[in-house]
Amino acid sequence: MTEKIISLRTKIETDLKQATDLADLETLRVSVLGKKGEITNLLKSLSQLPPDERRQAGQAANELRDWATLAIADAKGEITAREQANSLATESIDVTLPGRRRTIGRHHPISTTHTQLENLFTRLGFSILEGPHIETVYHNFDALNSPQNHPSRDETDTFYFSDELLLRCHTSPMQIRVMKTQAPPIRIVVPGMTFRRDEIDATHTPAFHQMEGLVVDKGIHFGNLKGMLELIVKELFGPEAQIRLRPSHFPFTEPSAEVDITCYSCKAKTMEGCRVCKGSGWVELWGCGMVHPQVLQNCGIDPTVYSGYAFGLGTDRLTSAVYGITDPRLYFENDMQFLCQF
Ligand code: PHE
Repeated sequence: MTEKIISLRTKIETDLKQATDLADLETLRVSVLGKKGEITNLLKSLSQLPPDERRQAGQAANELRDWATLAIADAKGEITAREQANSLATESIDVTLPGRRRTIGRHHPISTTHTQLENLFTRLGFSILEGPHIETVYHNFDALNSPQNHPSRDETDTFYFSDELLLRCHTSPMQIRVMKTQAPPIRIVVPGMTFRRDEIDATHTPAFHQMEGLVVDKGIHFGNLKGMLELIVKELFGPEAQIRLRPSHFPFTEPSAEVDITCYSCKAKTMEGCRVCKGSGWVELWGCGMVHPQVLQNCGIDPTVYSGYAFGLGTDRLTSAVYGITDPRLYFENDMQFLCQF
């Protein structure tokens, strides 16, 4: 046993001399002190010795282990110092090189649209609120009067976490949260991200942005809603901008309408081949309508006293319309060349 210990020590000494860099040294350390290393194996084999030999051999083996641990640590220190001295001697820094310019970002065009609209709505006395992206089925559908068989409830349309929780597919659940906690008069807008299981194409991305508007007071009528929509469009597109209202259906508004603006890609001229308006000359930007009496009631507001209107602006498309952007994918790619144009 003693011979074995002595020859192992001699071998480690030779190997240490040959280790020229930190990687060599680590290989050596593992082969000697690692789980299956030679010293580790030696220590394990002690148990097979007769008891009288074991004490002495054990002591020698432990000493060998302590010596090897120290010797390897010393060698590591030496190699590190040598490598540092080398790099100081051979490398130099050229202080005359021009500095690296830090690229500074800009506001995302959708944020700019949101800020522009928020400024308008603040001037009109609205409060700006944000709501949770993860919503309950109750706030996203049930309280909004959505029938059990409504297609948007389907798993193919909406991202569900469970039977009760989902990624909101519109900002309308905030209508419920606000009406349940605030008494009329209510004037709010809710900007934020919304999610649907849509295939990506020239007008759809699975995440997109909306801005919900809600006004509830005594004597609110459809004329107020139309006036507000025109004000928004004129603010963004100037006095000539045109909108078109189409009768529509939403479970939480009655009557309901969809708001279109003239196609921002083909300007209603080359309609046939247009990817954006698919030949119609118009692009859908909003859903809106008068708050359904049942929804007011669900929130504890008396529909015989109060009425209201609501709208859900698609702010990605609105931004596309403002800047003439024809592919909504660009909003989500974080391409600085694209973003820095705005
Ligand atoms: N939440 C509707 C949608 O996302 C839009 C809408 C909002 C319609 C408010 C009416 C009133 O399609």
